[in-house]
Amino acid sequence: MEIQLWREILAPYQLAVDELKVKFEHIIREHRSAGLYSPIEQVIGRVKSISSILEKVQKKQCSINQIEEYLDDIAGIRIICQFVEDIDKVVDIIRNREDMTIKSEKDYINHMKPSGYRSYHMIINYTVNTMNGPKHIRAEIQIRTLAMNFWATIEHSLQYKYKQNMPAHIREKLSSASEAIIQLDEEMSAVRDEIMDAQNSFQIKANIVSDILNNIQNLYKIANKREIIKIQDEFYKVYQVGDIEQLAHFSKQLDIIAEGYRAQSLS
Ligand code: GTP
Ligand code: MG
Repeated sequence: MEIQLWREILAPYQLAVDELKVKFEHIIREHRSAGLYSPIEQVIGRVKSISSILEKVQKKQCSINQIEEYLDDIAGIRIICQFVEDIDKVVDIIRNREDMTIKSEKDYINHMKPSGYRSYHMIINYTVNTMNGPKHIRAEIQIRTLAMNFWATIEHSLQYKYKQNMPAHIREKLSSASEAIIQLDEEMSAVRDEIMDAQNSFQIKANIVSDILNNIQNLYKIANKREIIKIQDEFYKVYQVGDIEQLAHFSKQLDIIAEGYRAQSLS
């Protein structure tokens, strides 16, 4: 097939990957700016490379003209979570969306593959709009923890290296590494609440500091310089103490001061 034709076929899938990445990254941002823990840690996306598509065509014994019918993963999204518990939350988020419908699901978390592979897979139907109008396509979403992703990445490289002939001792090593990953995820889950608390207070603090700095910056337009410098010095002092309550109190006071200036400038 001509390279230009490949480009035309793959373009809507690239659009889908770009859009889906933005949408899932927005979910992270929404949680964090609300001071909430985000069940999504990271989003990765890719369009299947032409060489991988050709490999799959061979494996599935279909024709190149049928790739859009036969391949579910031309557009691929990987969602990485910190904890196993987050995976169900992400699955629910996807189920509740109106811009994607679920075609099929595979739960390799509760039903680990013989290789030791674990992930939650969803094939979704998704519509992109191109200059030729709407196009309905499918995309594969893989949801897994950081630890599962670590294992799958290593195992994938070894699979690639050995093709069908992975030595038994390496397969065994991978299998026992997979057991270790299960244990690691379990142990992380046991301290999940504590880790989430720590991350939340970090995020809440970051949000307050960002509010304060925005307010101070806006004050530069309306307040007198001496007062702003006084406020800034006070902010540094409160910040150094590092207490969230005190920072929140300072932020509220600053809101009142800023409001006062705004009222003045309007009258
Ligand atoms: P395909 O036609 O290959 O898509 O078969 P399938 O639909 O049965 O695939 P499956 O849902 O099992 O896997 C789809 C994707 O999951 C693969 O393309 C890989 O990215 C990933 N995957 C599945 N099994 C493994 C595995 O054993 N190791 C690793 N590293 N990744 C896997
Ligand atoms: Mg598949």
